[in-house]
Amino acid sequence: MIIVLFGPPGAGKGTQSANLVAKFGIPSLSTGDMFRAAIAAQTPMGKEVKAVLDAGDLVNDDLVNNLVFERLEQPDCQKGVILDGYPRTVAQAKALDNWLQDHHLKLKKVIELKVDDEQLIERRAGRLFAPNSKRVYHKQFNPPKVEGICDLTGEKLVQREDDQPEVVRHRLEVYNQQTAPVLDYYEGEDRLVTLDGMADIEHVFADILKALGSK
Ligand code: AP5
Ligand code: MG
Repeated sequence: MIIVLFGPPGAGKGTQSANLVAKFGIPSLSTGDMFRAAIAAQTPMGKEVKAVLDAGDLVNDDLVNNLVFERLEQPDCQKGVILDGYPRTVAQAKALDNWLQDHHLKLKKVIELKVDDEQLIERRAGRLFAPNSKRVYHKQFNPPKVEGICDLTGEKLVQREDDQPEVVRHRLEVYNQQTAPVLDYYEGEDRLVTLDGMADIEHVFADILKALGSK
């Protein structure tokens, strides 16, 4: 079961991917989380991509594809995986299809979460993030039990570098120019499902389960 969660920055991909992990027991593969972990660990790849993430631009396709394909080969992905934030360009979508074909696999669904720009900006402004557990919270919409602390690990919550208002606006432009065309690539096949991502977190999750034919 390979599921793509698709949508603009702040649409709720990370939030819903955590719900899917808990429901289906398959891992989530967030390219953004992988890059942030590499930056924090100051690996050569982390050093290479830091400026790109800070600016809100996209990392080059070859690097992203190789990282994802290497991860998909690992044993814990054999039962399935949730792709959060990948593919994000038409070139990545085509490369993924080639990889799937080579491995005799198919995408179960590409789930687009649709959220309007004003709400996206509000969500990012209040977002809090746990660097170790990767859990995502919101000061108002999804607060942790204890202010500033991750429910799971007790670690301190932080704001993401790329949630600065200027970077947020730029990430939205990058999404519209480079990522939204991926929807046309998937359009017309029964793998693309568009859901209302404006509903509250529980409703969005229920809609995702319905789209996957699960309860
Ligand atoms: P990445 O980490 O993937 O960021 P993103 O796609 O820009 O998306 P976000 O993580 O900002 O948002 P989200 O949709 O996960 O929303 P969340 O659940 O947190 O990528 C970061 C960077 O890495 C990119 O800019 C790029 O440089 C690089 N990169 C990554 N993948 C790449 C690729 N494939 N190719 C090239 N470069 C790549 O929710 C947001 C907030 O809203 C939270 O506070 C949450 O609590 C709240 N919330 C969620 N759902 C709801 C709801 N239904 N109602 C109310 N609040 C909600
Ligand atoms: Mg995310």
